[in-house]
Amino acid sequence: MSSSPIVTWETLDWPTLDRLRAGFLDGGAARGPYWKSPHDLAVYDLTYGERIGWKWDAVLRELRLRSLLPSASTGGLQVLDWGCGSGIAGRRVVAALGADRVSQLALWDHSPLATAYAAGRARLEFPGLAVVAGAGAASAPDVLVVSHVLNELAPAAQEELRALVGRARHVLWVEPGTHEVARALQGWREGLRAGGARIVAPCTHQEACGLLRAGEERHWCHHFAPPPTGVHADRNWVRFAQRAGIDLRSLPYAYVIADRGAVADPSLPAGTARLIGRPEHFKPYARMLSCDAEGVVELTLPRRTLPELYKHLERNRGPLLYRWERSDATVSGGAPLLP
Ligand SMILES: C[S@@+](CC[C@H](N)C(=O)[O-])C[C@H]1O[C@@H](n2cnc3c(N)ncnc32)[C@H](O)[C@@H]1O
Repeated sequence: MSSSPIVTWETLDWPTLDRLRAGFLDGGAARGPYWKSPHDLAVYDLTYGERIGWKWDAVLRELRLRSLLPSASTGGLQVLDWGCGSGIAGRRVVAALGADRVSQLALWDHSPLATAYAAGRARLEFPGLAVVAGAGAASAPDVLVVSHVLNELAPAAQEELRALVGRARHVLWVEPGTHEVARALQGWREGLRAGGARIVAPCTHQEACGLLRAGEERHWCHHFAPPPTGVHADRNWVRFAQRAGIDLRSLPYAYVIADRGAVADPSLPAGTARLIGRPEHFKPYARMLSCDAEGVVELTLPRRTLPELYKHLERNRGPLLYRWERSDATVSGGAPLLP
């Protein structure tokens, strides 16, 4: 049998999925490697992993739209997926960069089963790509990929990751959009900034995180990715969602993209704001939390005077980047950054 089996909806055994979910929920994840077989990873990859892949799709789409995907100088990019699990994040990133522009994909997880599984799947998907198992293979990667690991890391592992983050040329990091994890990631973002990195997203500025100011503790920097079209009508995904206790319409995530670029980001005109979470639509107005270099502010956008912007906000599936004209907390005009 292959060391990286592929499970399909037809061959998925639901009890394995239930066991994995129970492990994630009861905090067992923080007690050490929990993958028991390549089969566990295959089940994860089809379900939880694929759902994480949708978040990566949203993040990578934004980078592509803003022409900010890491580019290779000479010799191709060395990519490291740290805490890789089944390796879904690393594969999404390699596909977005173009496998021909990647010189090596390194995979690391404290579970050797995971590292081996992820390597097998990557070799299957990118037959010509150099795939290596082990973080040492890329101690100063061009592109460091981190996905959904933060709440599993003991202090020593966090220090290990901190050192790696400090050495990477590009950091692409996606986490669940929960209050706890997103606020922790805001702290890591401050560390990156203090270390001289340029923050590319979600922040539209290089100032201190506005949500870390006193009084903003109830908020957290999270965003929503659009699930693939038709997923709500797919009986397999519907069954998965019911069983896993997940709302398929809602894909909250937190993320930080940073690099060592020294120049101002040409993709963001000064004054651009990012909306946090989702705007709320009421009949006469929309209300939203907007973040820019000045900080975070709750804004109201009146529907009667700005019907087009109101509609755009309602339809925008992300990224929620806008430039506002406003008087105090009321928007009087503005435009989306991207069509
Ligand atoms: C929820 S899974 C996420 C896997 C994958 N990154 C993804 O996004 O699908 C968390 C992964 O982090 C790994 N992990 C936890 N602690 C780790 C550590 N100290 N060093 C390396 N990997 C770790 C686990 O083994 C697991 O594969």
